[in-house]
Amino acid sequence: MRLGNSLNCISLYALFRQCTSPQCSTVTFFTLPQERYSHDNSVQCVPGVDKGKIYEMSVATADFGVNSIVHRSWPMSDSFLDKARSMWNSVADDWDIQVGDEGDRNRVLNSDPVLWDFVGDVEGLDVLDAGCGTGYLTRKLHEKGARVVGVDFSEEMIRIARRKSSHLDFRVESCSELGSFNDGSMDVVVSNYVLMDTPDLEETMEAFRRVLRLGGTAVVVFSHPCFPADWVQESGHSVSYRWECSYFERGRHVAPPWNHFKSEFIWFHRPLSDYWKAFRSAGFKVLEFEEPRLTEDRAHLVPDESLRRRAMSRPFSVAFKLRA
Ligand SMILES: C[S@@+](CC[C@H](N)C(=O)[O-])C[C@H]1O[C@@H](n2cnc3c(N)ncnc32)[C@H](O)[C@@H]1O
Repeated sequence: MRLGNSLNCISLYALFRQCTSPQCSTVTFFTLPQERYSHDNSVQCVPGVDKGKIYEMSVATADFGVNSIVHRSWPMSDSFLDKARSMWNSVADDWDIQVGDEGDRNRVLNSDPVLWDFVGDVEGLDVLDAGCGTGYLTRKLHEKGARVVGVDFSEEMIRIARRKSSHLDFRVESCSELGSFNDGSMDVVVSNYVLMDTPDLEETMEAFRRVLRLGGTAVVVFSHPCFPADWVQESGHSVSYRWECSYFERGRHVAPPWNHFKSEFIWFHRPLSDYWKAFRSAGFKVLEFEEPRLTEDRAHLVPDESLRRRAMSRPFSVAFKLRA
């Protein structure tokens, strides 16, 4: 294991890069650009790790030695999950202000109409709202007659959801485990703006598939990976994106606070094809795909001309309807 000079951190996060040669006996790690402890060092290490997964490497001390670092790897870094969970805990109150009881403007105007179209009639069905946040969608599913359970790994999100609707079933749980759900116990899984926020996409899709009955439906809506809201620059009618990495490079990113939020957001970029592959490899069939946008019939709801143009000219999200 070899490490570049001048590493003065106690831990760094790395993204596994596949070897170019099948006989290659080493794999290469690069630190993620936004990791504040990283210094763009690349690290060589011996194989024995799962390709395509994100690992944590622990470096004992700055002076531990150029040629010796303590290396830990595991299928999905718990630390990534912990960091994401703690970030969502810290923004939970502000998140409730953002979505309230109806969903924010993007949801109401752009993606919720597609989501409801994909979800269809839920009367009498067992529905899981996976990554429910403070529960605006869980409540709506309940109002539409579903037997709904809201799940989120953030204790603070669930605390607020329970406070607002103590009659509903909200559980603190990770979408990638769903340990309190039996196999084949749900008719519908809805996951609204969660997949780009979870570090463990494949495990999450496998868990969704496991808890669904055969023939059940998953509806997943998430931020459009081709149009990252954080990297957009607009000037009049022109829109440009300042990409910080290759579109094909998977990685963890940090978004600055927006609107009334006071802290940063962690999100995970993956190319769209990664999502498609995760759906298929979990055993889902892709039934529908939509790029929600403001449609003509709702355009009058957005009086501001530039906001209207923005919402009609590019999608903020993608929506998939999947069959188990
Ligand atoms: C952008 S918010 C969306 C919340 C809600 N679905 C909504 O539309 O208002 C993302 C939510 O996903 C949750 N989340 C992210 N990864 C998760 C995981 N692996 N398991 C459970 N919840 C997760 C976060 O705690 C957060 O509440």
